Amino acid sequence: MALQLGDVAPDFTAETTEGTIDFHEYLGDGWGVLFSHPKDFTPVCTTELGTVAKLKAEFDKRNTKVLAVSVDSVESHNDWVSDINETQGTTVNYPIIGDPDHKVADLYGMIHPNASDTLTVRSVFIVGPDKKIKLTITYPASTGRNFQEILRVLDSLQLSSQYSVATPADWKDGEDVIIANSVDDEAAKEKFPKGWNTVRPYLRLTPQPNK
Ligand code: BEZ
Repeated sequence: MALQLGDVAPDFTAETTEGTIDFHEYLGDGWGVLFSHPKDFTPVCTTELGTVAKLKAEFDKRNTKVLAVSVDSVESHNDWVSDINETQGTTVNYPIIGDPDHKVADLYGMIHPNASDTLTVRSVFIVGPDKKIKLTITYPASTGRNFQEILRVLDSLQLSSQYSVATPADWKDGEDVIIANSVDDEAAKEKFPKGWNTVRPYLRLTPQPNK
């Protein structure tokens, strides 16, 4: 069965462009984003890896380690990284896992045989400090991912892990959030001293509590 939210992210040891990595140990107490690429030296992947390199400081700010995986060897990745750096005007600054035997791809169900027998789809897994899967997204090979969306989800997940809130559609860091329905008005007075707007009894909006 496919991995689901709340499952423990499978641990693995793999060779990467930054040496051997044990996944859980590498994440430490922080968050992780594991994202797959169909193949080295392919155009969409090249732009994605460059984009993530440019966003590395944003992931660092969120105490989040990024790891890419592609079904080619580390040797191939190293050659490809030179191309990525040159064409995308950046320096790849995070590990790319070599996965020629599909160990990681199979553990995470990144190969969808009815799409391709050999290439991975574009999977994204966000893993929390408890090593549990907090988000899965699957994009087709032909669509480059929106990594601002991954950062946005991290902001939402990290906020709701600290406060009894959820975030509305298209929410961005700094905007009002929703008080969880598990918190009644009496408890909300203490938890959300800035007050709230009751749109409906089940929809109470409050300023983002950590701003
Ligand atoms: C790409 O990265 O451009 C790509 C890779 C595999 C299939 C289609 C596109």
